[in-house]
Amino acid sequence: MAKNDSISMSVIKRLPRYYRFLGELKNKGVTRISSRELSNKMGLTASQIRQDFNCFGGFGQQGYGYNVEQLHYEIGKILGLGNGFKTILIGAGNLGRAIATHMSFEARGFNLIGIFDKNEAMAGNMVRGIPVRQTQMLDDFCREHHPTVAVLCIPSEGAAATVDQLVELGVKGFWNFSHCDIAAKYPDVAVENVHLSDSLMTLSYQVDSVINN
Ligand code: NAI
Repeated sequence: MAKNDSISMSVIKRLPRYYRFLGELKNKGVTRISSRELSNKMGLTASQIRQDFNCFGGFGQQGYGYNVEQLHYEIGKILGLGNGFKTILIGAGNLGRAIATHMSFEARGFNLIGIFDKNEAMAGNMVRGIPVRQTQMLDDFCREHHPTVAVLCIPSEGAAATVDQLVELGVKGFWNFSHCDIAAKYPDVAVENVHLSDSLMTLSYQVDSVINN
């Protein structure tokens, strides 16, 4: 299946959901599904689904629908889930420890190889079997191991300096939980900002609508 650089981010952002959904179908032993069934289950229109998959050259066959296992595999390939990008996590506080412990990085194309914190007292603590290292060791570690991705779980104060340091050390992508704007200064670096509070505020809107309608 061809990978097309001009695919819009809105399509890319739907792929993880397709991937997760098809994985669940695969685990239930479902072997094929029509775009209509897929659309009913996912709350999207069948034409939206066909359009999305056509961006990559289409996966379906007229009258057959989609082969679940193949579609799951192809979408995983498009997302690059086999890359195993070397990843480090900065900030081993409550959020950083929760993410390190509960995210299955490997299943999503990332390989967590290092955890750093500026707090000396944390040095040597084990999180997910990885020792927390002090940030003074970041330069040497990156020069030796060449991580491609960093997960930022630090407050916004000081985050900009950390980003500068990591970009200088060759980091190409950030999973950014800190409230620090990376994209403005580094437009060529991949950034995925995560704001759990946005999701909570969206829920607020929805609950408000349910109650007041
Ligand atoms: P925390 O206080 O438990 O942990 C922060 C850790 O980062 C501490 O261990 C601290 O020593 C370390 N740290 C601070 N600056 C650092 C630096 N420059 N380099 C290396 N380590 C550094 O805080 P928590 O709860 O883990 O939250 C961390 C940040 O994530 C907070 O600023 C919070 O606002 C943000 N956050 C963002 C969320 C989101 O959805 N984007 C959700 C929850 C928290």
